[in-house]
Amino acid sequence: MTSLLIHSAAQLLTLAGSPQRGDELGRISMLNDGAVLIEDDRIAAVGPSDELLQRYPHAPRLSAKGKAVLPGLIDPHTHLIWAGDRAAEFEMRLQGKTYMEIMAAGGGIASTVHATRTAGSAALLAQTRARTEGLFRNGTTTAEAKTGYGLELNSELAQMELLLQLNREGPLEIVPTFLAAHAIAPEYQGQPDEYTDLICTHMLPALKAWWPQHAPEQLLPFVDVFCEEGAFNLAQTRRILSAAQKLGFPLKLHVDEFANLGGATLAAELDATTADHLIKTSGADIRALAASETVAVALPCTPFGLAQAEYTPAREILAAGGLLAIASDINPGTAWCESMQFVIALACRMLKLTPAQAVAAATINAAAAIHCQDRLGSLEPGKQADLILLSVPDYRHLAYRFGGNLVDTVIKKGKVYPR
Ligand code: NIG
Ligand code: FE
Repeated sequence: MTSLLIHSAAQLLTLAGSPQRGDELGRISMLNDGAVLIEDDRIAAVGPSDELLQRYPHAPRLSAKGKAVLPGLIDPHTHLIWAGDRAAEFEMRLQGKTYMEIMAAGGGIASTVHATRTAGSAALLAQTRARTEGLFRNGTTTAEAKTGYGLELNSELAQMELLLQLNREGPLEIVPTFLAAHAIAPEYQGQPDEYTDLICTHMLPALKAWWPQHAPEQLLPFVDVFCEEGAFNLAQTRRILSAAQKLGFPLKLHVDEFANLGGATLAAELDATTADHLIKTSGADIRALAASETVAVALPCTPFGLAQAEYTPAREILAAGGLLAIASDINPGTAWCESMQFVIALACRMLKLTPAQAVAAATINAAAAIHCQDRLGSLEPGKQADLILLSVPDYRHLAYRFGGNLVDTVIKKGKVYPR
C-alpha cells in the first residue's frame, strides 16, 4: 500500500456531507492547518495537521504550507469530443448574426458534425486528448463528456469508444453521455419526427447492446437531449427520454437555453439526473425542479461566450430549495472554456453565488450531477483521493481572480501530478 500525508494546508476545504440543497449551499467545512491521509487511491483520514502527523508518523509527507486544498473540481457538462473549430462563426456573431440564425443556415452544430465525421479517429482523439489535458491542468479531476457531433449511430458509437479510451488512459476521469439528440441529423433535415424515431427504435437499443462489450465494468451512460427550438421539441424530447428510461439509461436534458419549451418541468417529471442551461426558465419550472431530485446545472460560460446578458436565475433556484451545480459546457460553438476556475469566477459575478457556494456547486453538487456523490466531490474517509492544491492560501482567490490558473498540484486517485 502507498500512503501520502498531505499536511499543513493553510485551508482545507472538505465539503463533507451530502449534496447541498437551497440555502445549505456553501457549506465548505473549512479547517485551518488541515491534513489528509491518502492510502492508495482512497482518502483514509482527514483532520488537523498536528493530529494526523502524530497518528501517522511514518507516512510519506507532502507539505501544503501556504496552500489551500480542496476536492478536485468536477465538470458535469462538457461536449469534449469534436474536431475543428468555429472561429469564423464567432466572428459572424460579433458582426450581428445570432447563434440560432447561424444554426438555421446550416452552420453551428452541423458544421462541427461535418468536421467530426470526416476527421479520422486519430485526429479526433488527439484534439480531444489535448482538451482533457487542459481541463486536468486547470484542476478538473472528473468531467462528464457528451457525444453528439456524429448524429448517426456509427459515428456516435465511435465517439463513445474514444471517450471510454480517454477515460482508461487518464488521468482525467470521464463520465460519458450519449447525445445523438444534439441536433436533427443532416440526413433528416425537415424530418425531425423521423430522426426522433430512429433514435428511439434503433440507436438507443443498439447502444444498450453495444455497452456491455465495450464498457463491461461501467454503468450505462447518460442519455441527453437538446430540447430547443430548431432542435427537439417537447414531444420529441419526451419520446426520446422515455425510450431511454425504459432501457435503463439515466437522463440529462438541455433546456431553456434560448427558448422555454417546458423542458425543465419534464426533466423533473421524468426524474432526470440533471436539467442544464436553465436561462429562459419560469418560476413554475423552478418550483418543479426544486421539488425534485433533479440537479439544476448552470453553465455561465455559455451566455458569456455568446455575449448575452441573461444568465441562469441561480438565486431563485436556491431560494426555492433546488440543488445547483455549475459546469463549463465546453464546446466549439458557444463556450470553449477548459477551466472550472473561470466558471467559478463567472458564477460569483453573474449568478451571484458566494465563493463558497460556487466551490460547493463545482465539487459535491457537481458530483451529484453525474451520480457520483458517494465516491467523489468531498474529502472524506473512503472517498476517492481526488484533490487539488492551490498556489494561494485562500480558496476565495478561485473566484476573485480570473483568467489564470491557481492550481499548484493535482492529485488524482492518489497519484500526484505537480504542475
Ligand atoms: O450546450 N446547446 C447545445 N449544445 C451546445 C452548443 C453546441 C455547439 O454549438 O456546438 C451548448 O451550448
Ligand atoms: Fe451543452
